[in-house]
Amino acid sequence: MSSVVFPTPASSSSSSTPKKPINLLRGWPAKSLLPASSIARASQTALADPEIAYPALLYGPDPGYQPLREELAQWLNRFYKPWTPAQPEPDRITISGGASQSIACVLQSYTDPVYTRSVWMVAPCYFLACPIFLDSGFEGRLKAVPEDDEGIDLAWLEAGLKSMEEEDEGKNSRDKPVYKDPKPYRKIYKHLIYCVPSFSNPSGKTMSLRRRDGLVKLARKYDALVVCDDVYDMLQWPTATPSTLSSFPPSDLTTAILPRLADIDFSLGCSAHDPPSKHFGHAISNASFSKLSGPGMRTGWTFSTPDFAFGLSQTGSTRSGGAPSQLNAAVLCEMLRAGDLEAHIEGLLKPAYQKRHALLLEAVGRVLVPLGAVVNESSLEGSEIDESKKSVFGGYFLWMKFPDGPAAKAIAEMCQLEEELIVGFGDMFEVHGDEEAVRFGNGIRLCFAWEDEGDLVEGVERLGRVISRMRNEPGRKLVEGSRASGKGMDEFK
Ligand SMILES: Cc1ncc(COP(=O)(O)O)c(C=O)c1O
Repeated sequence: MSSVVFPTPASSSSSSTPKKPINLLRGWPAKSLLPASSIARASQTALADPEIAYPALLYGPDPGYQPLREELAQWLNRFYKPWTPAQPEPDRITISGGASQSIACVLQSYTDPVYTRSVWMVAPCYFLACPIFLDSGFEGRLKAVPEDDEGIDLAWLEAGLKSMEEEDEGKNSRDKPVYKDPKPYRKIYKHLIYCVPSFSNPSGKTMSLRRRDGLVKLARKYDALVVCDDVYDMLQWPTATPSTLSSFPPSDLTTAILPRLADIDFSLGCSAHDPPSKHFGHAISNASFSKLSGPGMRTGWTFSTPDFAFGLSQTGSTRSGGAPSQLNAAVLCEMLRAGDLEAHIEGLLKPAYQKRHALLLEAVGRVLVPLGAVVNESSLEGSEIDESKKSVFGGYFLWMKFPDGPAAKAIAEMCQLEEELIVGFGDMFEVHGDEEAVRFGNGIRLCFAWEDEGDLVEGVERLGRVISRMRNEPGRKLVEGSRASGKGMDEFK
C-alpha cells in the first residue's frame, strides 16, 4: 500500500467517540451463525461411544473417515439430484482438511511443475488460491481468463490453450512429466483450470449450464483438470428486499440449480487422455464444511471419479497418517446423521444470509448506485435457466464496479483511514503474475457474512461518504499520518 495517506477530515477527527471498526472484507461467518451447540452434541455422541471414539481418535484410512464418506454420498445425492447416480457412491468422495488444503494435495498428486503448463484462473479470482498454486511451482504461469454474466470466457481460454499447444509442438521436454511419477494410480494433467462455478468469490456469479458444458468439453480436449471450489453451493436463496423477505422463503431452494462440472464430466465417460482401464476424469468438485459448520473445523471433501479419488488419497502427506481432520470428520458425520447440519443450513444460515444480502443490496441501491456503482444483483444473470430462478443469489459476496471512478484501491485506503471501514478492492482479485491481462481497478467486494446486520448498512453509508468526498474534492492530496489500524489484508478470506 502507498506510504502516503489521505488527511482525516475535520468532521471525523473532531468526533470524540471513536468509530466502531467495520470489516466488509472478511469472508468469515458471523459468530452468531456458528452451530456451537450442535457441534457440542455431535462431539458428545462421538466421544461417548467407543465404536466411534476410538477410530475417530486414531489414524484413519487414506480416503477419509468411512462413515462420513457414506453420509456425504447420501446427502450430496439428495442435494445434486437429478444429476447424481441412482445409488450413493462413497468411493467417489475423499475427506480433506478443507478446500485450500485439498487443492495443495491435488497439485502434489496430479500436476508436474514442468509438464503441467499453466493454471488458468477465472478472473476476478479468489485471491488466496494464487499462493497455493505458486507453492507448487507455478510462479509466472498463472493465467487470467475473464468472466462475463455467464461465467468463464471460453473463447479466450481456448485461444490460450491452443497457443501453448503450438508453442510446445516438437519440444521433447514437454512430452512427459519431468519431476513426478504418476504410478498406475495417478496421472499428470497438461493444464489446470481453477474456478468457483456457483456463487463465486468474489463476483457472486454462477456459471451457466452451457458454459459448464463448454468448459468440460475444452478440458477434455486439452487434457486439463478443472478444479471447482464448490464451497458455496448450499448457500442459496431467492433474492428479496427487506420488505418482501417473508414472501420468498429460502426453503424454496433445497436442491442445486445446476449440476457440478464433475457430474457433467462423469456423464461423458472416459476421455482420450485417460490411460487404458482408468477413468480419472477432467473435473472435480472441491468442497468444504467451512462455510456450513465453521471454518475452524478445517474439514472438506472432494467428489470425482473413483480412480481420481483413490489417486488423491495416495498423496504422500495423506498416506502418512490417513486423511486429515479425522476427529472433526467423525463429529460432522454425527451432525449429518442427526439432521443437524441440514437444519442449521436451512433454518439459520440461509434465512440469515438472505436477510443480510437484502439489507446490503437495498443500502447499496440507495447510497452507492446514485454514486455510479454498477452491482451484480443476481448470481444467475446470464443463465439460460427458467426465469423464476434468475433472482437467486448465494454465497458471501456482493461485487460492484465504479466505471467512472474513483479507483477502488484509493477508495479502500480512504475508507480504512477515515471511516474505520475495510472493503475488498479489485486489484486484490487480479490473477497473481497476470494482472495486466484482466484488470479490476474499479471493483469493490463487500462480504455480508461477517458483520452484524446494522453494521452492513452503516458500512455502505460510510463507503458512500468516502466516495462523495473523493468526488467533491478531486484534488485532495495524500498526506502522511493515519488513524487506522493498518492491518494487512492477508488475514482475510
Ligand atoms: C472460493 C473459496 N475456496 C476456498 C475457500 C477456503 O476454504 P477452506 O476453509 O475449506 O480451506 C474459500 C474461503 O473463503 C473460498 O471462498
